[in-house]
Amino acid sequence: MKHRKTVIVGNWKMNTDVQSGINLAKQILDLSNNITNVEKIICPPFVSLTSIAKVLKGSSIQLGAQNVNPNENGAFTGEVSTAMLHGLVSHVVIGHSERRMFNDESSDQVAAKAVSLSKAGMNPILCVGEDLSIRKSGKAVNFIAKQLEASLKGFSNWNSLIIAYEPIWAIGTGEAATSAQAQEMAAVCRNIICNLTPDLGNSVRVLYGGSVNSKNVAKLLEQPDIDGALVGGASLNAQEFSNLIKLASSK
Ligand code: PGA
Repeated sequence: MKHRKTVIVGNWKMNTDVQSGINLAKQILDLSNNITNVEKIICPPFVSLTSIAKVLKGSSIQLGAQNVNPNENGAFTGEVSTAMLHGLVSHVVIGHSERRMFNDESSDQVAAKAVSLSKAGMNPILCVGEDLSIRKSGKAVNFIAKQLEASLKGFSNWNSLIIAYEPIWAIGTGEAATSAQAQEMAAVCRNIICNLTPDLGNSVRVLYGGSVNSKNVAKLLEQPDIDGALVGGASLNAQEFSNLIKLASSK
């Protein structure tokens, strides 16, 4: 029996406009608001956050953003700061492989985001993941350990942290990692955290992400070090996402 509460996060990525986002949030709320033994977080695009915050107000579903700029304010065209998100969202996804890849984000920058979120009282959902060539070369364990450590430089607010192990080769491919592969890497992440904070390491939640759906979620959550899922594609369908939450609630 795990002592950590299961958490299911929906990462909508660059999908939905304001109106379809509101509709999707309402449907998810209808179908899953009464499931309270799972922590549920949805992360819509920035432009929808204010409207969806109104939909979720007083509900059991929390709101997250998909990125943040660690600077307080200033000449950063197109960026959004922690101060702007404060009071609007409880969680922020940082270090997603798509941002590391398409926006050249370094682990140093991810660490700065983690620190600025923790100063502002928000919870980082910190993603790490290796690509296929690293996995094939047998260096995944080493790579993830290094990436996670570098992405946590200067961070110490362990109670607020959620980690998501998301192998790049499994994201959006329909080919999730096997539960054994996911467990192995979740344990690597947990070991790193336990080394950094021996007292609190075992209470930090580690999620798996990469083609999670209602068919594979149960098996993944059976693993001792996997405390939930970061869900992309399957979070855009209210019925599928709620089924997944329901399955997680019975774990
Ligand atoms: P996927 O995305 O579920 O569509 O594979 C997961 C993610 O990138 O967070």
